[in-house]
Amino acid sequence: MAVSRWKAVGSTLLAMFLVGLVALLAVLFIRTYTWPNEVGRWNSNETVIIELTEKERKQLVEALKGAIRIPTVSFSEEEQNTTALREFGEYIQKVFPQVFSSVLIHHEVLGGYSHLFKVQGTDLSLLPYMLLAHIDVVPAPPESWEVPPFSGEERDGYVYGRGTLDDKNSVIGILQALEFLLKRGHKPQRSFYIGLGHDEEVSGHKGALKIVEKLQSQGVQLAFVLDEGLAVLDGVIQGIRQPVALIGTTEKGSITLDLTVNRSPGHSSMPPSETSIGILAAAVSRLEQNAMPNMFGEGPEQDMFERLSTKFDFPLNIIMANLWLFSPILSRILERSPSTNAIVRTTTALTIFKSGIKVLDIMQNTIKDERVEISVLNSFDPLPVSPNDMSLGYQILQHTIHNVFSRAPVAPGVCVGNTDSRHFVNLTNNIYRFSPVVLKKEDVDRIHGLNERISKDAFELLVQFYIQLIQNADTDKILPPHLNTHEL
Ligand SMILES: *[C@@H]1O[C@H](CO)[C@@H](O)[C@H](O)[C@H]1NC(C)=O
Ligand SMILES: *[C@@H]1O[C@H](CO)[C@@H](O)[C@H](O)[C@H]1NC(C)=O
Ligand SMILES: *[C@@H]1O[C@H](CO)[C@@H](O)[C@H](O)[C@H]1NC(C)=O
Ligand SMILES: [Zn+2]
Repeated sequence: MAVSRWKAVGSTLLAMFLVGLVALLAVLFIRTYTWPNEVGRWNSNETVIIELTEKERKQLVEALKGAIRIPTVSFSEEEQNTTALREFGEYIQKVFPQVFSSVLIHHEVLGGYSHLFKVQGTDLSLLPYMLLAHIDVVPAPPESWEVPPFSGEERDGYVYGRGTLDDKNSVIGILQALEFLLKRGHKPQRSFYIGLGHDEEVSGHKGALKIVEKLQSQGVQLAFVLDEGLAVLDGVIQGIRQPVALIGTTEKGSITLDLTVNRSPGHSSMPPSETSIGILAAAVSRLEQNAMPNMFGEGPEQDMFERLSTKFDFPLNIIMANLWLFSPILSRILERSPSTNAIVRTTTALTIFKSGIKVLDIMQNTIKDERVEISVLNSFDPLPVSPNDMSLGYQILQHTIHNVFSRAPVAPGVCVGNTDSRHFVNLTNNIYRFSPVVLKKEDVDRIHGLNERISKDAFELLVQFYIQLIQNADTDKILPPHLNTHEL
């Protein structure tokens, strides 16, 4: 009797468990297979393609090659090739005559070598926007390059050289797009600025910051800022086979610390049992072994995986569409590779310690040695996260990406490197970091590395991107925002 009663209770529990399991699976699958496609504000698929002539297509490639040949290297914050920076200013004036002679455009040089252009729109009620790019490049010792890094040489359909991906492609691309539009009599409705900084690689304090100060003194507010950053990634994200465009909606903060140990130097014939170097080495080793906490879910990375969830192969698609359940598993997976690890936490790089600002306490607790003094050399907070919804800037970018990159899916992401755009937080809440170029895994290593290059086709597409963007920013075909949330 008693036994059969327990059996009844047991089978009720089992039934409840099974019903629960089925319900859970149903939720997982419904979420996975009904995830809404990205919804845009645009009510048409119209693309305003400008056909370039054969001559113009040659011209744009030559413009890039010439820019690569000027070695605008930033060696350090104190040491830049100012001869090259000056030469670069003369070069763009020569190559883009319409930009420098148009009555619509006001040009000025700031901080000695940076350039600010204002392109006057016809409709003063529209908030202007800003296109940013930087003129300087990191050093490129010629050893191990297939072609000299400042030759701009062409090989197998690629232009080689330092700056072809970071960031002379965008400097020349933006100016070339504007030159072609002006030549065709295009008059923008919405005003915009073009900012070309000359010391991005070493802080942006002499260039971008001067541009910001100038605009701030005039009380300018911007609808959005577009700077270099993430890109159209092809085969870079594991589990996604098609190219996807990631727009950086934030970037990591940075802190540079100085660790010192002050001990009275011992007599060398009678060294103290512990030397300063020994104490420091132990502290550094403890920092290396104890990672900063994993912050997955606190930035836009969750939005990124959810937006792209339907593009992942099975079973990753189920995980990505159900991060409410699986985010602990995903964050463990991300920790395993250095490139994705940097997305989920503050990374501690030895020799210089770069990390988010609220980490001093964590470091002190990790080092656990009062003899090691920690002082902050310089730092800045992680950047605020820009909207990735119906906001004007994000929508214009998404639409332009669809136009130019064969409707590649678009998602927000974290830009792990820093850009000049971080200086613009007072001028807008909408800062986007996106380089309009398709990158494969092997291209990523060429940035700041050996044999940096861009294909001529990719560069032409980049120019088309800016041509489209400038026109899309004018369009009146934007629908009022409507919500796009998931029901489950
Ligand atoms: C835009 O084009 C895509 C693919 O060609 C199509 O699926 C979609 O329905 C179109 N949207 C509109 C509003 O025409
Ligand atoms: C600086 O640039 C000029 C050309 O603009 C070049 O002749 C010179 O070699 C460069 N100097 C260094 C140190 O790279
Ligand atoms: C932004 O504005 C605040 C307050 O006016 C000022 O303290 C800060 O320096 C500004 N930041 C930048 C990057 O200009
Ligand atoms: Zn750059």
